Amino acid sequence: MSDLKKIKEETLSKLRSKLDLSQINELKSDLFGKNGKITNQFKKIGSISDSEKKKYASELNIIKDELQTLINLKISEIEILEVNEKLQKEKIDVTLPERPIIRGKIHPVSQTIDEISSIFSEIGFSVEEGPDVENEYNNFTALNTPDYHPARDMHDTFYLDEKKQKLLRTHTSPVQIRTMIKGKPPFKIIAPGRTYRSDSDQTHAPMFHQVEGLHIDKDINMGHLKGCLNYFIKEFFEVDKIKMRFRPSHFPFTEPSAEVDIGYKIKDGKIVIGEGDQWLEILGCGMVHPNVLKNVNVDSDKFQGYAFGIGIDRLAMLKYGINDLRAFFECDYRWLNHFGFDPLDVPTNYRGLSR
Ligand code: PHE
Repeated sequence: MSDLKKIKEETLSKLRSKLDLSQINELKSDLFGKNGKITNQFKKIGSISDSEKKKYASELNIIKDELQTLINLKISEIEILEVNEKLQKEKIDVTLPERPIIRGKIHPVSQTIDEISSIFSEIGFSVEEGPDVENEYNNFTALNTPDYHPARDMHDTFYLDEKKQKLLRTHTSPVQIRTMIKGKPPFKIIAPGRTYRSDSDQTHAPMFHQVEGLHIDKDINMGHLKGCLNYFIKEFFEVDKIKMRFRPSHFPFTEPSAEVDIGYKIKDGKIVIGEGDQWLEILGCGMVHPNVLKNVNVDSDKFQGYAFGIGIDRLAMLKYGINDLRAFFECDYRWLNHFGFDPLDVPTNYRGLSR
């Protein structure tokens, strides 16, 4: 049998067996590759005598075409087979309902912080932040809180080391110190964040939130403080009039100091702000003590101002009718689903979490 016939027979028999794609590609390059059997036959043409050459060349071309066609056919056959096998294995049931989009909710405390920040930014306050782990100097000493002050007591403060140098901040007031030390007056900032005290009941949690306010300039007085808080409370509770009461109080870092109550009443089981004769304490405030200004190198003969610290969780409870503070921090998914807020960019195909 001539070489050509032999190649053809061999190839045909291989093509009759079961081949996969890689095997058939191997066969293809065995024949038509650089050193392939058919390629080599073409190379031989030059050495064949003139009389034979024509016949041989035409025979070779016919076999080449024939084998190529058969191989290509086989390839598409295998491809179809493989696709079908895959389709069989990975059957998709297009009648199944789509999966629901699960979207997180914004926690009422985060929502309240956003609202507070935007209300104060309207009247020129910028937002500052400080760390939860503070040193005792920023948290107490610089705030004119002497060593023997009861607020330093182990019962209230979570100390982080034996020497009581590091602690979880007990209020956001250290951000006043941080802000004034790194900048120059005037200052007009708020500082929302987490605060910690060793305390836990229906209205106290060991971790809670405050927003500090600080406004220092050449002639800021208590009237400005009242005006600012009055504006804030009205905006926050979305009411036209409120009842607000300043009660004399004491904080080491303010003089004079006051606590502020807002008037409310309960109507049909709901809190109505701005009416009635019940009072609820929501913040502490006062004029920044000259010793504090001295500690941060601000000239208290030239500059003065007010500071306040508002309990954020309490505001959120009041505004959104939540009556147990501890629920805020229990991370109960169902609770968050009920009291949480939808993000602003709700897509039109959003169907909520109800399943
Ligand atoms: N830091 C005080 C507190 O936690 C609140 C406060 C802030 C009072 C600023 C006066 C001025 O109770």
